Amino acid sequence: MCGIVGYIGKSLAAPILLDGLRRLEYRGYDSAGLATVSDGRLETRKCAGRIQALADLLKKEPAPGGVGISHTRWATHGRPVDENAHPHADGSGRLVLVHNGVIENYQALRAQLVEAGHTFKSQTDTEILAHLIGKLYDEARAPHGKARLLEATRAGLKQVIGTYGIAVLHLDVPETIIGARRGSPLAVGLGRGEHFLVSDPQAIIAHSQEAVYLKDYDVAVVGRDGFEISTLEGGIAGSYEVTKVDFTSDDVTLGEFPHYMLKEIFEQPHSVRDALRGRLSKDDASARLGGLNMTPQELRDVDRVIITGCGTAYHAGLVGEYLIEALGHVPCEVEFASEFRYRNMPMDKGTLVLAVSQSGETIDTLAAVRESVRKGHRTLGICNNVASTIARECGAGVYMHAGPEIGVAATKSFTSQVTVFTLLALLLGRIRHQSSSEGLGIIKALEAIPAQIERALETSDQIREIAAKYVGAKGMLFMGRQYNYPIALEGALKMKEITYLQCEGHPSAELKHGFIALIEPDMPSVFIAPDDTMFESNLNSIEQVKARRGPVIAIGTEGRKGLEQVADDVVYIPRCPDYLSPLLTIIPLQLLSYHMAVHLGRDVDKPRNLAKSVTVE
Ligand code: M6R
Repeated sequence: MCGIVGYIGKSLAAPILLDGLRRLEYRGYDSAGLATVSDGRLETRKCAGRIQALADLLKKEPAPGGVGISHTRWATHGRPVDENAHPHADGSGRLVLVHNGVIENYQALRAQLVEAGHTFKSQTDTEILAHLIGKLYDEARAPHGKARLLEATRAGLKQVIGTYGIAVLHLDVPETIIGARRGSPLAVGLGRGEHFLVSDPQAIIAHSQEAVYLKDYDVAVVGRDGFEISTLEGGIAGSYEVTKVDFTSDDVTLGEFPHYMLKEIFEQPHSVRDALRGRLSKDDASARLGGLNMTPQELRDVDRVIITGCGTAYHAGLVGEYLIEALGHVPCEVEFASEFRYRNMPMDKGTLVLAVSQSGETIDTLAAVRESVRKGHRTLGICNNVASTIARECGAGVYMHAGPEIGVAATKSFTSQVTVFTLLALLLGRIRHQSSSEGLGIIKALEAIPAQIERALETSDQIREIAAKYVGAKGMLFMGRQYNYPIALEGALKMKEITYLQCEGHPSAELKHGFIALIEPDMPSVFIAPDDTMFESNLNSIEQVKARRGPVIAIGTEGRKGLEQVADDVVYIPRCPDYLSPLLTIIPLQLLSYHMAVHLGRDVDKPRNLAKSVTVE
């Protein structure tokens, strides 16, 4: 949530900052701003709206200088208006600061500062931090300079309760940017004669492919030619690895696609192949997941799995639950990370906790990981972002290898997560009850999936036309059973987050227990009804909807007749075993939400009120 880019080097800072903000815009996009140092003055430009609004402002009022900090905001405290945009200045106007996170005790700190004579221009929690650090700097006795700013930053942060990733710039030390983190990611990007301070190295991919990630309670002093990291308490920080950023500029550009979401939907044959690569062993008729760091005996000792995550990752976990129980024969439960962290579930020694997160930075999932680790449970991460906090704190798990996902609506990360769960279920099953021929059967079916996703994607034009028929709908219902019940939930989430239509997902058979009351001609139902043991039952539910004049879009299996007689529109996916069907049935639902959103003129990649990774509670 929110994005930070800082630059110090030989080039003009503003264009680099602006380009970085554009790459991070999906993390928050209600206002943006930057500040540079030029001729002994701070040049601050900020405004409500998208990065383009800031770019327009900079055309009128350029901000020269080779040092600067910048921010794109997702509002937590204070509406998205010009004065709440970052950077925020201290009382003297000589210090500016950008911040990701939430200062929980800001009201108490604000009251103290007001008492001391400070006046505030914004309603944000961040401005308090700028005033506090500025005040401590002004009151310090040490000579003006880097050390004094570092000490003031440390002293200010020690008074703070909450989360932060910050970048601080002061006119007295124009050759330095100070960064610090607790709970919000921050990394130093390395260059020659230039350095960066970023919340995500993706921002500077065009300039640097090497980064050093800060840990919680680290403070970094970044200069043109180097950087130093120490702890909040003033100690020497532990050793640091330089992480190579493993994607290129091309991975984060649109190419021929009009939106990132569509690009990422179409990347799925590739991303699922990457999630499988090197992990299927025909010799063992099983999966190889070295990153788990678990012996066969330890895997055998697992007698319960708890999966936790948020949003789409939670839905992937629900598919995982069916897979781990059916193929792996291990009892499995799924819990929202936001509930897990406070629920205090009784768990015994044999419980394995799996935390699923594309970004690896979602605050609730991270808190769930910490709670689980604190209680001594083996906790594994299923993450896409290799250098993320969840990946690092779990220390073991399975990477998704989906490549950068920019569209706020998660698509390829979902199919990669489900693929990882299938591999895990295969591994657990082969250690327990499954014969090698059963294992080989699963491997064969999995290997066919990327090509089958490609075929499912061929339905895009048909789905665009179906979507056009329903642009006047006032909402949509999504129904499925067993493996495809979570797909109904995920289909509804995709549709609501980018079209803003009221949508619900349910198990099909629940229809007559309540929400059948919603059926009417402008409330279409989407049935996920592949050719599985639930087909006839889904057909019954469709009849019940049709009897009440509800339009029906059905997702069926090629070659299985019956749906076209009852549904208004049918989209067919290739035939596969029922346990793999979610990897195919989700494709038409992603496309349906995408085409609906385009027909409705929505901002597909940046839907209102949302941000890509939710790093505040
Ligand atoms: O990065 P994570 O996988 O932890 O994100 C979890 C959710 O915030 C995310 O899936 C969200 O629900 C998406 N916007 C859904 O499309």
